Amino acid sequence: MDAKQVVLITGASTGFGRLFAETLARHGHTVFATMRDPTGRNVTNASEIRALAKKESLPLHVLELDVTKDASVEQAVRTSIEQAGRMDVVINNAGYGLIGLAEAVTTEQAQQIMDTNFFGVVRVNRAVLPYMRRQRGGLLLHISSGAGRVVFPSFGFYCASKFALEALAEAYHYELAPQGIESSIVQPGAYQTAVFGNFVKAADEARTNTYGVSNQIPGKINGLLTTTAGNPQEVADAVLQVVETPVGQRKLRYRISSASLGVDEINALSENVQARFFEVLGIATDTAFVQRSAATN
Ligand SMILES: NC(=O)c1ccc[n+]([C@@H]2O[C@H](COP(=O)([O-])OP(=O)(O)OC[C@H]3O[C@@H](n4cnc5c(N)ncnc54)[C@H](OP(=O)(O)O)[C@@H]3O)[C@@H](O)[C@H]2O)c1
Repeated sequence: MDAKQVVLITGASTGFGRLFAETLARHGHTVFATMRDPTGRNVTNASEIRALAKKESLPLHVLELDVTKDASVEQAVRTSIEQAGRMDVVINNAGYGLIGLAEAVTTEQAQQIMDTNFFGVVRVNRAVLPYMRRQRGGLLLHISSGAGRVVFPSFGFYCASKFALEALAEAYHYELAPQGIESSIVQPGAYQTAVFGNFVKAADEARTNTYGVSNQIPGKINGLLTTTAGNPQEVADAVLQVVETPVGQRKLRYRISSASLGVDEINALSENVQARFFEVLGIATDTAFVQRSAATN
């Protein structure tokens, strides 16, 4: 793989995605900052990114990509590969939070969050993997969360979407390694982005009338998250490091937070459990994917 990478980022209109795009492009990587509706709701964000690219002569391009739409995902992947000639890194970043006690979340809201935070990743990875396979390499990077490992009551569906993402990204990690394609997970703690302002509220609040003290949980957790949130550039700097880590040396998981919340412990325990599971399966020593994945952890 070339030292300078071609990178596609989803959800690059604001927050982490935008910072990843600017940080990576400023380090010479060719970046496709993708977003929904760059000529409508995100027209200002798209123009600001294009203006920055022009002002600083950065290899930074804006493309339309809505992770909930197959055709939009396929088109963005195709266009970026036509323009850059290859695709080295995909950062699955697009996502949002859904706050409220689980019973107050409607089935439609549950489906919508999974469609973005989980199926969005399925769409993007399925679109890009045939290209990565042809070029015999690439990195799928997944922006999960501490809430992909620890359950926050009143964020049950957000947690479910990130737990699902963690499982999928880990399966890719083992399965794709023999083809030289890596899958890694970044687990940020709370950081100051637009995420908190963009939380969707559970629609069926009448369901929670009888919940008593549990009704205080959403406010408490929201308060904790917003008051402890750090500078998101920390996460962008960490992602830059992962992107610039040589092939074969990248880890499966990166926890980026000043507060561990026990996520590091869960990661370490799960790594041991997985290794024992592969031993039981009898594929610990004679299967390329385990050898390779053990070498990268
Ligand atoms: N900030 C934190 O504390 C924190 C902590 C852990 C994990 N995360 C994760 O980090 C990721 C980025 O969040 P953020 O904190 O940077 O918040 P953000 O500023 O709200 O960014 C979320 C991005 O996702 C995009 N998005 C939403 N639905 C989309 C869709 N269907 N197709 C394409 N893009 C879509 C949004 O685009 P629009 O502008 O079009 O809405 C926006 O660009 C998320 O996956 C989030 O779960 C954040």
